[in-house]
Amino acid sequence: MVLWVGTSWKMNKTRAEAASFATRLRDAAAGGGWPGVQPFVVPPATAISVVRDALGPESPVVVGAQNAHWEDAGAWTGEVSVPQVADAGATLVEIGHSERREHFGDTDRTVNQKVQATLRHGLTALVCVGESAEVRAAGDARQHVLSQVAAAVDRVPAGSRVLLAYEPVWAIGEKGREPTVDEIAEVTRALDAEYGAVVTALLYGGSVNPGNARDLLHTPGVTGLFVGRSAWDVNGYLDLLRIAADVAHKAGQVSAMTVPH
Ligand code: 13P
Repeated sequence: MVLWVGTSWKMNKTRAEAASFATRLRDAAAGGGWPGVQPFVVPPATAISVVRDALGPESPVVVGAQNAHWEDAGAWTGEVSVPQVADAGATLVEIGHSERREHFGDTDRTVNQKVQATLRHGLTALVCVGESAEVRAAGDARQHVLSQVAAAVDRVPAGSRVLLAYEPVWAIGEKGREPTVDEIAEVTRALDAEYGAVVTALLYGGSVNPGNARDLLHTPGVTGLFVGRSAWDVNGYLDLLRIAADVAHKAGQVSAMTVPH
């Protein structure tokens, strides 16, 4: 099992700042990397090619885009397409983050269209789902998230490369609250039961930091972390990668001990 640990920079960093982060990450990876961990970085569109170039062609780090349109080209002012982000060096597209659903009109339907476009061009889809505080208070978190995922992967061929990120809206960003493992486990268990066998990884995101990362990685069904603020400084991201590598290492030891002889 590989733990996916990545960061979206959201609307942050100039190209120079992006290059400096990526160069540090490249050097750290060259020092042995993080066995059992798949790192990924999702810069703003302006910095995708900068990050790709600074990491270099041999880098184990996956580079993603924060969004891409469902059409390949055309009169869609302000948008970028999957072929364009691929041309810039992205091999993954983040789709349906709650900030995009809230402010930029992403819906279950357009999320599905973007997933289809991403897979059609051979990129990995990272689908973000999560309930608001109101939905959770009403006791509907599990059902809400399951229906978001069902819509996102509607008519997606089996074997497609899809990652899920469960990011409760109430846990994300400056106003977000750190969740307890118990709070999120009901949803991650349900996602694992329904989709665990078919998705590449199931990530948790929202107020992840070096203090809670280990516990969050032990949440049932969770095989990765998707991080904002704590990983915008490269040292914070490197801390999280080290923690994940340690979790992967210990999990490997446990499963090696339980292999029947
Ligand atoms: P924070 O880690 O800053 O809460 O953001 C999480 C997130 O939205 C990742 O996509």
